[in-house]
Amino acid sequence: MDIILLGPPGAGKGTQAQRLVERKGMRQLSTGDMLRAAVKAGTPVGLKAKAVMDRGELVSDEIVSALIGEELDAMAAGQGAIFDGYPRTANQAASLDAILEKRGRVLAHVIELEVNEDALVARICGRYTCANCGKGYHDTFEQPAVAGKCDKCGAHEFKRRPDDNEETVRTRMAEYRAKTAPILPIYEARGIVSRVDGMADIDDVTASIEATING
Ligand code: AP5
Ligand code: MG
Ligand code: ZN
Repeated sequence: MDIILLGPPGAGKGTQAQRLVERKGMRQLSTGDMLRAAVKAGTPVGLKAKAVMDRGELVSDEIVSALIGEELDAMAAGQGAIFDGYPRTANQAASLDAILEKRGRVLAHVIELEVNEDALVARICGRYTCANCGKGYHDTFEQPAVAGKCDKCGAHEFKRRPDDNEETVRTRMAEYRAKTAPILPIYEARGIVSRVDGMADIDDVTASIEATING
């Protein structure tokens, strides 16, 4: 069973995807994480994507859909995928349909995290991740149990994203409103959209998502 987590920057897509990976053995497919890995490795895709991401604009549909296809091909057929940050345009939504059909996979749920945009800048500007395992944290909302030490892997180094500044966040939100929110009706017409209150506590959001998935 595959699902899409949809919501603006800072809505909690990555946070919730990581939890579903741990609890349900699903796999997180984050195009943002894939692109950041490509930038870090200096691949041709990374070289193209870096400046676009730093501005907060969207990378081309062809690039991200190719990344998703490659990741799905590396997965066991029975393992569920969580699409985090993909699809983001009508074109990508159409590509995803074709990608899933070709592999005999079924999109079961599109979960929209409903959030108050004003709160998102604070969330994003306080966010950091473990440099070793990628576990996400927040200066105020999700701190490690022992300060300076990753709960998951024990590493002591953390990093922040270059696009997590207020100006870029505003552009990312505008992109979401203009290009991504308009794809929801495609899935509404199929009756697979569920809305979850993304302003609730992180644990409560997880519980709501699990309730949706478990039907
Ligand atoms: P991407 O990496 O996908 O970034 P995004 O969509 O802007 O979303 P974020 O990762 O910022 O937010 P999130 O929803 O994952 O929130 P998180 O869980 O971390 O994309 C980055 C860039 O890559 C794009 O701008 C674009 O250039 C490019 N790109 C990626 N995919 C693309 C595509 N398909 N097409 C084209 N271009 C693409 O939570 C945020 C913080 O809040 C965390 O610190 C967390 O601890 C905290 N938090 C989470 N939930 C709660 C809660 N309920 N209460 C309190 N705090 C919370
Ligand atoms: Mg994310
Ligand atoms: Zn770690």
